[in-house]
Amino acid sequence: VPAESSADEVFQQVQKVFDSMSLDKSGRDPVLKDAKVLFIVGGPGSGKGTQCAKIVEKFGFCHLSSGDLLREEVASGSERGAKLKDVMARGELVSMDDVLQLMCDAMKKKISETKCFLIDGYPRELEQGTRFEKEIVPCVGVLYFDVSDETMTSRLLKRGETSGRVDDNEETIKKRLQTFHNQTKPVIDYYSQQDKVCKIPAEGSEKDIFAEVEKYVSSHKW
Ligand code: AP5
Repeated sequence: VPAESSADEVFQQVQKVFDSMSLDKSGRDPVLKDAKVLFIVGGPGSGKGTQCAKIVEKFGFCHLSSGDLLREEVASGSERGAKLKDVMARGELVSMDDVLQLMCDAMKKKISETKCFLIDGYPRELEQGTRFEKEIVPCVGVLYFDVSDETMTSRLLKRGETSGRVDDNEETIKKRLQTFHNQTKPVIDYYSQQDKVCKIPAEGSEKDIFAEVEKYVSSHKW
């Protein structure tokens, strides 16, 4: 930068250099700036993963589940994974930094294949949502699967007969439900105030639920 002229003129040149480096002025990672994100929220066993698989099949989104990413980290045998496993076995939320970093890295790996992401099981507390939107990209909307505690419990107990998951047992399911009501419900209230939530009654059959999901997804431009 030629720096003989006034400070203001020099600064204009400096600013041009930064602009040309395509740094997002909001501080977001430029790699993910065009991503389109649908948050998938609901209690444990509300059918988030099941419906995401159907959305992928029909619409070709990239499905990233925070729970799956965390379980992959646990399975890797890393030190961080061992700590995560204990938290998950207690039905509590793992640290926000851990889960946000895993999600961001996973999105970057997939962005060249698709811009449309189903971010499943995230945000689970309000700050997860606000940080994601500040550091990555604002969400297009939130799909919320509304199911009673009784139904979620019976689905998970049934799955627990074969899943081998450390958290599909009666005691941890109770704790997961508590965590959902105390920490995740405020997320739904927050995005409802922004008119971004589509609440899907999800007690029925997978097919009937997907009919509603499909209507919502089709009503947006992706
Ligand atoms: P995570 O893996 O996200 O688990 P979850 O949200 O508790 O619930 P699931 O994923 O088990 O259920 P789902 O809603 O996807 O239902 P699914 O389709 O599988 O998280 C696990 C843990 O990781 C957390 O407790 C936490 O510790 C940690 N974690 C994850 N994300 C985090 C975050 N963002 N921040 C911090 N910590 C985080 O269906 C369940 C069962 O029901 C299946 O067997 C299915 O076949 C059946 N089913 C589905 N739909 C129907 C239907 N319509 N009728 C009958 N059965 C059905």
